[in-house]
Amino acid sequence: MDLYFRRIQLSLLKTLLSLSLVCAFFLIIYELNVLEKKYLKKTTWCGSECFLSKKEVVRVISESPRAKKAVDDFPQISNGSWDVQVLNCSEDASVRTKDWFHRLDSRFHQFILRRHCRYYPMLINHPEKCTDGEVHLLMVVKSLIEQHDRRKAVRKTWGQERTVDGRKITTLFLLGTPSTGKDSKNLQKLIQSEDLIYKDILQWDFMDTFYNLTLKEVNFLKWFNIYCPNVQFIFKGDDDVFLNTHNLLELISLKKKHHKDATLFVGNAMFKVVPIRKPQNKYYIPKDMYDKPYPPFIAGGGFVMSSQLARRLFVASEDLELFPLDDVFLGMCLQKLHLAPEMHPAFRAVGERLSPCLCRKKILVHKFIGQQLLNIWRLVHNEELVCA
Ligand SMILES: *[C@@H]1O[C@H](CO)[C@@H](O)[C@H](O)[C@H]1NC(C)=O
Ligand SMILES: *[C@@H]1O[C@H](CO)[C@@H](O)[C@H](O)[C@H]1NC(C)=O
Ligand SMILES: *[C@@H]1O[C@H](CO)[C@@H](O)[C@H](O)[C@H]1NC(C)=O
Repeated sequence: MDLYFRRIQLSLLKTLLSLSLVCAFFLIIYELNVLEKKYLKKTTWCGSECFLSKKEVVRVISESPRAKKAVDDFPQISNGSWDVQVLNCSEDASVRTKDWFHRLDSRFHQFILRRHCRYYPMLINHPEKCTDGEVHLLMVVKSLIEQHDRRKAVRKTWGQERTVDGRKITTLFLLGTPSTGKDSKNLQKLIQSEDLIYKDILQWDFMDTFYNLTLKEVNFLKWFNIYCPNVQFIFKGDDDVFLNTHNLLELISLKKKHHKDATLFVGNAMFKVVPIRKPQNKYYIPKDMYDKPYPPFIAGGGFVMSSQLARRLFVASEDLELFPLDDVFLGMCLQKLHLAPEMHPAFRAVGERLSPCLCRKKILVHKFIGQQLLNIWRLVHNEELVCA
């Protein structure tokens, strides 16, 4: 009898166990489904619906009166010209006597020694670029002299100068000089002849290195403030991305319609990011240099901002010490204005399948280099392409 009952108990237990396993299995499937739906919803372009939902993250913290005043005081339209004619900024030798300087990873030494050198002479300028009527969208693209193929692909795709429904789009490439070890003389000749053809290059006399990207940022902001009183919006990005200009223009018009364009600063925004402390990482920042979490900033690829905000960022940037990571530096400038970037999922496409249909829904997708960009552009704009 005892044995019999025990057997029944055992089989009951077994049944219960398998039942709960089945339940757990279905639960997991369900959770995955929900997660997937959430993810899909979050990462696809939804046109005007994206902006009508109440969930829209507009992280505009109230502005301090001081920040506002600094901008009101600033001449909105400046008709001057580039006023840095000679490269005359020597190393700040005093830091060499400091203990912390010697503790610092040597890759930061050049940066620290010339941290106070902010504006450089221009080797190639185009003061006329924004003066020919109203420019709706100015696209500025960070590039290196030797990356001629990437510029060629950008000019043929999203960087093509054109007018869409009466809105003028124009493009500029931002360059420095070749970094050490490169054939500077010939590269300089090449870039000058490229500019003779396309007239779309701004070049400054600083070395185009990773930590000098912040110089590209501040020199461009100053340049913009001098030469572009009639530009409405700026897209700033890399030369290895796919940009869906149609969706970008749609985003801009929706922001205008909802009167949210004056402080527009949208992209793949990051919040509560802490500095990377692994020395082997490209984005490594030692504690001695920065010991807090970063302010909200827009990471890599590109972002769109209003011209009003660009002018205010220029004013804010002048009061801040340069920081080696250019996107974080812009975040610091925004923070100074008591503003934060806005996250838009159409700017995020990491680790997803880079299909033409996906690119149709997005605003920005990376990486597409040279020929790859030409290919995807052709596919996305093929009228026979049918997307779900
Ligand atoms: C613009 O140029 C005019 C004439 O050269 C000058 O009188 C005026 O002060 C300038 N304005 C600014 C904001 O620089
Ligand atoms: C460069 O700066 C140094 C020190 O500030 C100064 O003595 C020198 O005259 C400057 N040279 C030019 C060409 O401006
Ligand atoms: C930035 O460019 C300047 C001017 O060419 C150069 O002296 C400096 O070493 C560069 N800084 C870095 C961190 O590469």
